[in-house]
Amino acid sequence: MVLEAIRYTPHSLAILDQLRLPHESVYFPIKNSVDAFNAIKSMTVRGAPAIAIVAALALAVELANTEFESADVVREFVGNKLKYLVTSRPTAVNLSDAARKLENLVNETEGDAKTVVRAYIAAAEKMLVDDVNDNKNIGKNGLEWAKKTIGTDKFSILTICNTGSLATAGYGTALGIIRSIHGDGLLSHAYALETRPYNQGSRLTAYELVHDNIPATLITDSMASVLLKTHPEIKMIVVGADRVAQNGDTANKIGTYQLSIVAKHHGVKFVVAAPTTSIDIQTKTGEGIAIEQRKPEELVTVRGPVVDKHGKVDKEEAKTVHIAAPGIGVWNPSFDVAPAALIDAIVTEKGVAEKDQNGEFHLESFL
Ligand code: MRU
Repeated sequence: MVLEAIRYTPHSLAILDQLRLPHESVYFPIKNSVDAFNAIKSMTVRGAPAIAIVAALALAVELANTEFESADVVREFVGNKLKYLVTSRPTAVNLSDAARKLENLVNETEGDAKTVVRAYIAAAEKMLVDDVNDNKNIGKNGLEWAKKTIGTDKFSILTICNTGSLATAGYGTALGIIRSIHGDGLLSHAYALETRPYNQGSRLTAYELVHDNIPATLITDSMASVLLKTHPEIKMIVVGADRVAQNGDTANKIGTYQLSIVAKHHGVKFVVAAPTTSIDIQTKTGEGIAIEQRKPEELVTVRGPVVDKHGKVDKEEAKTVHIAAPGIGVWNPSFDVAPAALIDAIVTEKGVAEKDQNGEFHLESFL
């Protein structure tokens, strides 16, 4: 059964609540842009493409369920709501990219209020469909690149965070490449980093890997270097992207930067999987990418279902427990930047970007 993280039908939207996974699969209704803003901020939905699509569709539902006096009132309403949605999370570019495209579209659409609303809804719905197709193409391109670069003997892959069906409209980017390599019979084993502090790896990627019967093992973030040293069958690290700067510097989940360094030390290919909507050609280098700081509670507390003395998980009772010394200061940047110099390839739905003889990516040609 395909994992459905975003349930959309015209006039209604619900998302699989990622705060309750992996122990409970509960759909959370999103009726308007305020619901979407809160769901993104609270990480009920997360992952760069997913937050863009949920924001776009939430506004589509709100528009479909509201009466407007004129086309200009719709345009103003859409502009204000998109500006508000963009402030929910700053690092991923997909959300502001989607907002810019949708705002341009309503401003350029002529006709009455209903015509402008219909144009917005059609464009938002297309983003949902396009993202799944783009991810499948990223998977296909990543598989071909791996065969060409690594070879056709089975190999293992390491990944971080969650970049799968839960982080996108479906299939996934980095996890999509793992899915494609597994589907081709080339995957020996997938290793998932736990991804502290928010545990997207242990909660969400592990859930998707188990769901798809992909042979996989969970490790803590601090085990990555020794894993590469002791498991030479790992030939590739594949990560997602929240924003790829013009020069290829890539912002992604905190911990990605250190993976790019250990990959170089161990001669393992370091690959970024990103739809072209994650490329921000206006931002020249990673220095220009705003890194979201998140609240200290993510480090000092953990939430999950209670485990009884026999090791049985009680799905009914979730608790938050405090795990750090009270009073300790906390630094919690949610993302870091892997430098282009340490990236071997950026796999998009349109093809794979590699550096030229001067060590430079040319991402403009993919837009
Ligand atoms: O804080 P998150 O969970 O939204 O961070 C997600 C990531 O860093 C992903 O790797 C990235 O958004 C790519 S998802 C296809």
